[in-house]
Amino acid sequence: MDMVPSKIGFPTAFRVRPGVSGISFPFTGRPPQGYWNEVLAFGAEVVRQRPAVVVTEAHEATGVPALNPEDVASPRGLIKRRAFHLAALQTGPFPKPALWSEDVLISVLTGRPDPYLRFRHADAHTIIFVHQGQGTVVTDFGPLEFAQDQFIFLPRGATYALRSVSPVVMIFYEFPKRVMRPYHYWIRNYPYPDAALVPPEPVEVTDEPSDRGDYPVYVKRWLGPWTVLRYPFSPFDTVAWEANLYPFRLALKDIRTLSSPDFHIDPPTYTVFVTEDEGASMQAFLPRWVHSLPYPHQNDVDEVLFNHSGYHARPEVKDGYATLHPAGTFHGPDVRVSHQQVQSPPPPGKEIPWRDEVGIMVEARSPFLVLPAAEEVEVAGYDQSWQRQYEAVGSS
Ligand SMILES: [Fe+2]
Repeated sequence: MDMVPSKIGFPTAFRVRPGVSGISFPFTGRPPQGYWNEVLAFGAEVVRQRPAVVVTEAHEATGVPALNPEDVASPRGLIKRRAFHLAALQTGPFPKPALWSEDVLISVLTGRPDPYLRFRHADAHTIIFVHQGQGTVVTDFGPLEFAQDQFIFLPRGATYALRSVSPVVMIFYEFPKRVMRPYHYWIRNYPYPDAALVPPEPVEVTDEPSDRGDYPVYVKRWLGPWTVLRYPFSPFDTVAWEANLYPFRLALKDIRTLSSPDFHIDPPTYTVFVTEDEGASMQAFLPRWVHSLPYPHQNDVDEVLFNHSGYHARPEVKDGYATLHPAGTFHGPDVRVSHQQVQSPPPPGKEIPWRDEVGIMVEARSPFLVLPAAEEVEVAGYDQSWQRQYEAVGSS
């Protein structure tokens, strides 16, 4: 029986550096004459100028903010609503882990990235949401420009370095399971068309050796350790690639959104990425007409909502803050905002309000553990905020 899928992979793409001849598609597994190839197991083949297997040294990395085994062995899932000013975190050149579940690790990178610090995740696919900043992510598929209001996707095993001319605030989401996109049979090209995915072009990039004259790559495993693999040449020498999983950027402006005049649309409608086992998914709440406020709800997953700008349902939660709403308790709008809604008759469909909010949510089936970095920027008393608002409404 034919089945319509609810999620699909990304479309196959292939690129060749302008001016390079002798490379044709589809690839066969044998490198074109004069080149070397590397294959990433999920289905990417990259043609390079030098062989990827050459490593001069491998050693454990020091100074990286690895997860401590005792941290992640702590009991998880305390049913308490919490909020964190993630954008205020001071991080070094490595993303700082803030919230961990078995389905997704959320980390934060702020400041100006070290342009020659090369990363590779051995076990997870990475989605970076750019809250602030712009620059270039150099990858072993080619360089890719980025700016705020964009997602950057980096498949497991891809090598990359972040370069920017000004400070960034980036939220890293690392998924140990394959990342896919939702598929809507009845709504064509929703939530985004193939053309919205912009991959790197394999053009020449400059790279600088370390003080030791080599090109170290920091390779991360899911829970550590980090390993430094030292290469005698830059890993960024690609001339062509063909893949069904490859780095890309996706701009919020190219994501489509839905509104309804006569019912409240729930967050799963706004899913933009989902893992193959549906253990985790990401939603983008974009400017739209909103029929009504979210109702107080108790989810069957843990939710982390990052307020990129103007999230209206809880005005106390400012831009750059994230909330953690675990399963097993209710959450919902600011009681004062809900109170305004219940005091007034529902507007006719043609007059439902426009909301300029942008929020990025991740839902995980496995409970989140709040790591020390998030506790550094925790908002005190968030769990009682609805009570305070309720009292304020009662006395008004
Ligand atoms: Fe929720």
